[in-house]
Amino acid sequence: MTTRRTLLKTVPFLAGLPLLSRAEAQLTAPPASRPDLILAHLTDIHFGADLLDKDRLKPGLSAEGLTVALRHAQSQGAQFILQGGDLLAEAFNKPASVVEPQMKGVVEIFRREAKVPVYHAIGNHDIWGWDKKSSGTTGQEPLWGKQWIMQALGLRERYYSFDKGAWHFVVIDDIQPGEDRDYIVKLDEDQFTWLKDDLSANKSKPTLILSHAPILGVSPFFDGSNNLNGDWKISGSNIHIDAPRFKSLFKKNPQVKLCLSGHTHLIDQVLYNGVQYANDGAVSAASWYGNMQETVPGYGLVRLWNDGRVQVEYVASGFKLE
Ligand SMILES: [Fe+2]
Repeated sequence: MTTRRTLLKTVPFLAGLPLLSRAEAQLTAPPASRPDLILAHLTDIHFGADLLDKDRLKPGLSAEGLTVALRHAQSQGAQFILQGGDLLAEAFNKPASVVEPQMKGVVEIFRREAKVPVYHAIGNHDIWGWDKKSSGTTGQEPLWGKQWIMQALGLRERYYSFDKGAWHFVVIDDIQPGEDRDYIVKLDEDQFTWLKDDLSANKSKPTLILSHAPILGVSPFFDGSNNLNGDWKISGSNIHIDAPRFKSLFKKNPQVKLCLSGHTHLIDQVLYNGVQYANDGAVSAASWYGNMQETVPGYGLVRLWNDGRVQVEYVASGFKLE
């Protein structure tokens, strides 16, 4: 199997403490110096799709594809992994008996293949039983909702932060119950307050934020049929409906350099107000059914410099679906 590295865009970004101000931020050629940190951002793994659809997907397909991606990412020098959510094929509307083999299978693969630390975010497909009708849940089950995936991954909190080298990393939980829909992409009030406090307590550190769905991006324009009636219409289930709050928060926190996400299974990079936003396709491409438009199975390889520069590259894992 050939390994085709897909260099979609490299955007090193110069800004902030202690170097340039936001106003001076500019796109430049890749920095010649060695990065201070290298990480892999694996998102939308959708493990177990082949367990759910035995007619159309080869048994073991997702296990094989995930194993290839984990090995490839670590061979590129990733010092740790950010797992961006939608780890599971489907828990949202499935009974426990269908969810359990997905949980067990994916945890086993990470245990076996990941030789570096892994930090997990929660995606919409990872949440057990929010669709009570289809899943047959009551909402009273101890592992209902986000509890099961948190327990399986050893997450004490659904959102959290940590430091690596000079950098600060924040993992947020952006899938919230929707009143008129399955879910909406935003932060709850408690979490937003926590994020504000966490950023103000870590102002001197260049910061990366990991979310499941994009805070900002262009790929949601191409995620579904959004322009059928003569207007672009982007769903609040595709992209953060509270993006304006983030914009204001980031203005007060110029140490925020990079926001990574998935969810659309598409690849984009946007530089807005001095913050780089990168959506890193999907390990599963189109949930293992093939490529997702231009997205082949892959992951984001992220290089970080202590002065706040970043470079994000979408790398094909080499696993072929077509
Ligand atoms: Fe997904």
